[in-house]
Amino acid sequence: MSTEPAQTVPEGRRTAAVIPAAGRGVRLGPGAPKALRPLSGTPMLVHAVRAVARARAVSLVLVVAPPDGTTEVRHLLDAHSLSDVFVVGGGETRQDSVRLGLDALPDDVDTVLVHDAARPLVPAETVDSVAEAVRGGAAAVVPALRLTDTVKEVEPRGDGGPEPVTGTPERARLRAVQTPQGFAREVLVDAHNRVAREGEGATDDAGMVERTGVEVVVVPGHEEAFKVTRPLDLVLADAVLARRMARDSY
Ligand code: CTP
Ligand code: MG
Repeated sequence: MSTEPAQTVPEGRRTAAVIPAAGRGVRLGPGAPKALRPLSGTPMLVHAVRAVARARAVSLVLVVAPPDGTTEVRHLLDAHSLSDVFVVGGGETRQDSVRLGLDALPDDVDTVLVHDAARPLVPAETVDSVAEAVRGGAAAVVPALRLTDTVKEVEPRGDGGPEPVTGTPERARLRAVQTPQGFAREVLVDAHNRVAREGEGATDDAGMVERTGVEVVVVPGHEEAFKVTRPLDLVLADAVLARRMARDSY
């Protein structure tokens, strides 16, 4: 990440990373907000911020913290030598949090990457390839992987009973999407202005943009960009970090 003033960024273009980190982490079980829980002794959020800041394309990082935790997050980032990262308070849903982050960006930012704090191990190359695709002219870009499981569509039943299958989409046409998702700033802002929040809000930024009729494209994601959601994901994240340490020590 550059700490240079904006006017030195090539072509006057500036890419910001917005990191929604205001979730509670209910599916991870009781404890601190998910982004503040440690992986190999370092908070998940610090891993995520370092991961995006390492990308060449990113010139500014903004964290959307739990609304009651902005001071704690500020101190945490300062303690990890990340004082140039901006912090704002988040909202009730992920969609609200992303919007609050967008509202706080400086005027000279024209490309926005939205990256979940819950994907702390994304490689810098993945971040850069998303940013490059946006700078290359795509209005909305998502990193994604092919699926290994076959997916069924069902008639959902809340009672835990057997659910009738209504279809099997062709697996070769499906992709599991990750973050960072990259956008021309005005395209994402326009989607937030036009798409109303329903229920838990959008779980995916590109989904909102799709609804405004703008084309979204997929680039290759990375298996290490998985989302830490359930307790087993913490085991995987620790294993990935241990593997990196072992490789680095060769
Ligand atoms: N997020 C956010 N604001 C919210 C809800 C979620 O900024 N109101 C962020 C989370 O901090 C996370 C990302 O959006 O980095 C993806 O959300 P998810 O994995 O669902 O995290 P949580 O909402 O924290 O987890 P859970 O749904 O299990 O409570
Ligand atoms: Mg959630």
